[in-house]
Order: sequence, then C-alpha cells, then structure tokens
Amino acid sequence: MSEITSRREGDIQVLTFNRPAKMNALTREMYSGLASGLNEAAGDFGVRAVVITSEGDHFTAGNDIADFLANPPTGEDSDVARFLGSLLEFPKPLIAAVKGNAVGVGTTMLLHCDVVIASPSAKFSMPFASLGLVPEAGSSYLFPLLVGYQRAARIFFTGESFDAESAQEMGLVASIVADPLREAMELANQIAKNPPQAMINTKALLKASKHDSVAAVMKAEFELFSLALQSEEAMEAFMNFMAKKGKS
Ligand code: COA
Repeated sequence: MSEITSRREGDIQVLTFNRPAKMNALTREMYSGLASGLNEAAGDFGVRAVVITSEGDHFTAGNDIADFLANPPTGEDSDVARFLGSLLEFPKPLIAAVKGNAVGVGTTMLLHCDVVIASPSAKFSMPFASLGLVPEAGSSYLFPLLVGYQRAARIFFTGESFDAESAQEMGLVASIVADPLREAMELANQIAKNPPQAMINTKALLKASKHDSVAAVMKAEFELFSLALQSEEAMEAFMNFMAKKGKS
C-alpha cells in the first residue's frame, strides 16, 4: 500500500498521507507521491479541486527525521523541492482537512492551501529553529504576513505549538469541525459545481500579488535549509530525537 494514496471521488482528487504508524512523517517517496498527485490533478481537466487529508489521528509529524539523516535534500531537483514547487504552482482549489499534529511542513504547506478545515484536536507547530533548521515552504514570508512579525518570530524562535482555535484566529484555518474531511469534501463538491476556468482564474488572481516573492523566498530558504541540514546543530537535534525513540 502506497504511503500517499490518491483517489478520485467524482470531480475531486483526494490525496492522503498514509503512514499512520509513524504519525505520517513524510519521506522522500511520499514527497514524490504528493508532487505527482498534484501535477496529475493540475493536468486533468476532470479534476475540479484537490483535498489533502491523512489516515489515523494526525495530519503529519513533518519531515521524517531518519530520512533527513539518510537522504538530506540539498538540490532543487529533490523530492521535497519538487513537492513545494508543485504546491506553489497548483492552479486549482486546494483544501486541507487537518486533525491532530501538523508539524513542520505539515503546518507550512497549509499556508499554500486555499481553505484549511481543522478538527478541535489539530495542533500546529514549526520547530525548525529548535532542530537547527530554518523555516521553509515560503513560511518565513507568508507566516509573518498572516499573523504579524512578532507573533511569527515568537512561534519560529520557540517552536511552540498552537491549537485549532488560535490557528483560526490567525487565519491559518477557516473553520473547526468534528469531521474535517467530510466538511472538506462538501466544500470541494460545492466548488466543483462552479465553472472550472473561473475557479482557476480566481485562484491565480488571489495568489498573484505574492507569487513571485514566495518563489524567491522559497529558493533562499532552501539554500539555507540545505546548509543547515548538514550542520552540527541539526545533527545533534536529529540524534536526540532518534535516541529518544531508541533508534540510534
Ligand atoms: N520522523 C520520523 N519518525 C517520526 C517523526 C518524524 N518526524 N515523528 C514521529 N515519528 C514516529 C516516532 O518515531 C514513533 O515511531 P515509533 O513508535 O516506531 O518509535 C511514531 O512516529 C509516533 O511518534 P511518537 O513520538 O511516539 O508520538 P508522541 O505523541 O510521543 O510525540 C511528536 C509526537 C510529534 C511530538 C513527536 O513525534 C515529535 O516530536 N516528532 C518529530 C517532529 C519533528 O520534529 N518533525 C520535523 C519538523 S521539520
């Protein structure tokens, strides 16, 4: 069974993180599956919207730390860079249904989604700096834009998590419901009834003013992130995680 599943429900493509035993931590193969899923959905006229969701009790624990150690992504052709590029360029309505932990890229990818629906259990965090890393996915630009500089700085510097209500108040989440996938599918089906080119044009207009800045910031972040991944600070943080989990 693939760790990213892609299924079609009518006009909607549903991409699911499917590695619940590891809290859906994302490996290279999973980024590759996500990039392919988004690219295929973008090119398929029949797909009117995409929903991203997860198996189990959590959205994702972020990048798989063992994979960070074994295969640090350094090039622009890496699977994570391809996924983030596909996310930035994805032209159709993209809805996320989030429950439980959304760590690291699990939170930053939401800054690119058009509507995020969370369960009351959702918990968001971006502990990049605590891990010796730097923010990614354009979050060093998009997050302060959304929540204000000081709040963003505090969250990035401390790595502290925030709950669904705070995320809604920040504007990272549109609504909080007991069954976010159900609500996401209802919304996606409502959108799918509308004229598709008008949806694509509307999204392009909504994103236009920030697109080039986000692309430039993502590039700069990726360069620093690649260097940071090989730093002693990051190695120590990864080793600590592995040791805690009895994997070292
Ligand atoms: N990479 C690899 N494995 C991960 C993981 C990650 N990012 N996050 C969780 N897992 C695995 C754990 O090793 C564990 O597997 P195991 O049972 O085989 O040991 C399983 O998923 C469940 O996680 P666990 O840590 O036992 O759950 P918890 O409820 O005690 O803690 C977190 C949840 C999210 C606080 C904790 O897992 C964590 O800090 N994960 C790392 C998050 C992170 O730093 N991500 C990278 C951001 S850039």
